[in-house]
Amino acid sequence: MTDPIVTHYGPKAYDDHPPFRYPDYKSTVKRSPEMDMVHIVQTLSETSGPGPAWAEVAEEDADLTTNAGTGGEAIGERIIVTGRVLDENGEPLPGTLLEIWQANACGGYSHWRETAFPAPLDPNFLGVGQCITDEEGVYRFTTIKPGPYPWGNHPNAWRPAHIHFSLMGPAWGSRLVTQLYFQGDPLLPLDPIYNGVPAHSRERLIAAYDHDVTVENWALGWRWDIVLRGSAATPFEEDH
Ligand SMILES: [Fe+2]
Repeated sequence: MTDPIVTHYGPKAYDDHPPFRYPDYKSTVKRSPEMDMVHIVQTLSETSGPGPAWAEVAEEDADLTTNAGTGGEAIGERIIVTGRVLDENGEPLPGTLLEIWQANACGGYSHWRETAFPAPLDPNFLGVGQCITDEEGVYRFTTIKPGPYPWGNHPNAWRPAHIHFSLMGPAWGSRLVTQLYFQGDPLLPLDPIYNGVPAHSRERLIAAYDHDVTVENWALGWRWDIVLRGSAATPFEEDH
C-alpha cells in the first residue's frame, strides 16, 4: 500500500497511516481487505460535500463536563483540548466539524454495548461532543481526562488514555477518523493500535501539555493540531 492515491485534495501518503492489517491489533486480521483496492475516480459529490450541518452544532456541545444536560458536572480531571485544523498546505480550515467521543475518568464508555469493563458510569458525563472550527481553524473542547481501559486484545492489554476524533473537513475526500493521545502516557509503547501507526508519523497523534492553554484554578490545557491530507497528515486510527 505504498502508491499514493491522487485525489482532489492531493496525494494521500499511505506510508503515514497504519496498514489495513496489523496482526498485533487482532481485529484488523478479521476485517482487513484481502484484495487490492480499486481506484474509483472521484466525482463532485466526494470533492465538494456534504459539509457539516452547522445549525445542529451549539456552543454548549463543546463542553463535555456539562453537556449531559443534567444540571450537574462530570467527575474527573477537567481539561481543555484545543488546536488548529489545517489543510495539506498548512492553511487553517474554518467551518470544519469535529466530533469526539471518549471514556469517562474511570475508563468507562456510556454505551449500551460497553459490558467488558466494570467501570462506574458518571450520570453527568455522556462522553460525546462536537464543535466547529473558527475563522483561524481553531477548535476547543472542555472535557474530563479519559481513563485507560482493558480491551482483551492480548494478556493484560490496556488502551492508553485517548479521545476519538472524527473530522469531516471540506468534503468526504478529506474525512479523518483518528485518536488523540496524551504526551507522556506510559501505556503508549505497549499499545498495538498506537504502534500500528508508522513510527515517523506516530507522534502526530500526541497532544502536548500547554501551560498557556491551562486556565488558572480551572483546567489543565492540552494542544493538538490536526492536518487533513497531504504529507503531514494526521494518521487515521487504523483502517483507512
Ligand atoms: Fe476508545
